[in-house]
Amino acid sequence: MPTTLQEPSKSVLGRDTVRVDGPLKVTGTAKYTSDFNFPGMLYAVPVPSSIANGTVRSLDARAAGKMPGVREIFHHDNIGKIYRTAPPQGFEGIVDEKRPPLEDQQVTYYGQYLALVVADTFEHAKAAAAAVTVEYDVKAPNVASELEAHEKPKSESSRGDSDGAFNKAPVQIDETYVTPVEHHNAIELHAVVVQWDGTNFTIYESTQAIGNSQTVMHQMLGVPIENVRIISKFLGSGFGGKLWPWTHVALGAQAARKLNKPVKLVLDRKMVFQAAGHRPLTQQRVRLGASPDGKLISLSHDYITHTSMLDEYEENCGEATPFIYSVPNLKVTAALAKRNVGTPTSMRGPGAVPGLFAIESAMDELAIKLKIDPVDLRLKNEPVKDEGLDIPFSSRHMVECMTTGAQKFGWSKRTPEVGSMQRDGLTLGWGMAACSWIAERIPASAAVELHENGTVRVVSGTQDIGTGTYTVMAQFVSHQLGIPLEKVEAVLGDTSLPKGPLSGGSMATASLIPAVLEAADNAIEKLLDVATKVPGSKFANMKPDDLAFGAGRVHAKSEPAESGVPFDQVLKQGNLKVASGKGSSKGTFGGSPKFSSHSYGAHFVEVTWQPEIARLRVNRVVTVIDAGRIINPLAGRNQIEGAVVMGVGMALFEQTYYDPRNGAPMNSNLADYIVTTHADAPQIDVTFLDYPDFNLNALGARGIGEIGLAGVAPAITSAVYHATGVRVRKLPVMIENLLPRA
Ligand code: MOS
Repeated sequence: MPTTLQEPSKSVLGRDTVRVDGPLKVTGTAKYTSDFNFPGMLYAVPVPSSIANGTVRSLDARAAGKMPGVREIFHHDNIGKIYRTAPPQGFEGIVDEKRPPLEDQQVTYYGQYLALVVADTFEHAKAAAAAVTVEYDVKAPNVASELEAHEKPKSESSRGDSDGAFNKAPVQIDETYVTPVEHHNAIELHAVVVQWDGTNFTIYESTQAIGNSQTVMHQMLGVPIENVRIISKFLGSGFGGKLWPWTHVALGAQAARKLNKPVKLVLDRKMVFQAAGHRPLTQQRVRLGASPDGKLISLSHDYITHTSMLDEYEENCGEATPFIYSVPNLKVTAALAKRNVGTPTSMRGPGAVPGLFAIESAMDELAIKLKIDPVDLRLKNEPVKDEGLDIPFSSRHMVECMTTGAQKFGWSKRTPEVGSMQRDGLTLGWGMAACSWIAERIPASAAVELHENGTVRVVSGTQDIGTGTYTVMAQFVSHQLGIPLEKVEAVLGDTSLPKGPLSGGSMATASLIPAVLEAADNAIEKLLDVATKVPGSKFANMKPDDLAFGAGRVHAKSEPAESGVPFDQVLKQGNLKVASGKGSSKGTFGGSPKFSSHSYGAHFVEVTWQPEIARLRVNRVVTVIDAGRIINPLAGRNQIEGAVVMGVGMALFEQTYYDPRNGAPMNSNLADYIVTTHADAPQIDVTFLDYPDFNLNALGARGIGEIGLAGVAPAITSAVYHATGVRVRKLPVMIENLLPRA
């Protein structure tokens, strides 16, 4: 285990730290995938299907092929072999849509790529793509939003006799909650720029997981893994939509290989809605049984989520259900319903976010039925261990999240009657909900180099989705070596670097810590060894064991760090340009865990309601998060604030509609798919409890990318109920739901 070498008071850990890559971004110097251009580069534009169910009868590319600048039009008959991937190993080799592009003539969703036009300019490619004509044998698409399981539901967790206990419970809630299809809508579109040199692929890709992408492309393209290099230097976010490669990546690479030219392929917004994943529709029945004093007796969570015709994507809505509350009788079941839609995928807080909308809404409904305060109801049902796995919690401060939040929000002033709170002529609604998200690590490696010019370089083959991975990597090294942040350079986003973690599951930071700290320790070891070998130096004839490193200096253990020799001088004396060390760590997934490891939180929401003009606003949100030690509170607060803003969208705006006639996502643009704008954003007050979780890593840091979104929507709909008396169980809240019925 690495030792903490830096005095805490001097460390950059836990200090608000502006992004080290900020200047590159604000000056436009940061290169995102589609900013890469190469001599002779061609532009590829896919031809999407205009039906959601059927077969391609004929595809006519003759006219399009004669249009200006067109180099090639690929389709089923000439794309050549693109292989299927093998079953994934851990987080390697994952694709959600398993059928390779153009593999057959069967159309299973609207927007499925049927051809790829490659031309000398983007405009030429786009014009020719529009001129490709396709005839189909068309069948009616199934995009129905009422879900029925197509097979027997799968049991995900069970204890006691949930049905029996529910039937006998004195107080019961039995409701069904629905969350709609949502699209990630990262502002940066999915993009790929591919170079092929006859042997090697260099693929610039907008991906959250360069390592996975390398494995997938090695398999799909049928070349050795060492001949595939993935580069992703900056991302305009992904929210899960860029975790695993979609079919355009292999298409772009195959085109580059076949034409022996660099190829750029950037999806348009419509294509992202059609063929790059979405959060699936969920329909969740929750049954709660309780005693009159509010002790949970039974909890059943039976949910159905939609998936595509050819893939079984499971949205794990029951992820948090078995451990979030203490309840002796519990059952979670899951089932899928197939639809003619593109394959769904993970979207920020997959499973837990829609799952907790259902559970936390039901808890609020139970509190109302019992006439118990919703905070008190949760406090009464706080578990002392993970009752699902029967193991202790690693570090759980849910109670403190709720009590701190209640205090900061002023919750004690709440009067529970509907519409009973007014301010400035507005009706106020106050609601709250709890939340949880996994805290895990995945295998990671990193290297640290101390340079004779006094700088330090830390590298890992991970990527920065925009959350601040460059910055926290630099902070770890600055902390561990006692070297100012400005002297540390973080390098990532390239599979030629030691393999780093994916940017997903809120795991990158926690996963990098052990690898980076070990790499730093190993670099120090090399430096101390060199120090003892410099003839005539003050450390000559000492043993490396007699030496230590602190504040950027080599010093004898017997003397303070300040009287040591700066590391760059040691390197110069030792005639060594670089002292480098590698580090790696295994993940925490799999096997039988000793601890139940999660982050927790609570959201308190104030909405304002003006019935006269049917105006609803989320006015104020107080969020308290227990996510272990916070490495960078500034970036951390930004993550939670962004998640709360996204939660407002989930509660009030976001929903993708499918046209029942042709199966097309209808509002597939940023004008009609409504997201929270600045004008909709509430005042947000974020507090981190900052209890280090040393079971996860030496710095005690968990992840913060996703937790902030969980629980926001049910806190808002509970506040809406408190203001209006209308319980919205199907998101998003529509203003017409709230209008008084004549
Ligand atoms: Mo997150 S849905 O794991 O990008």
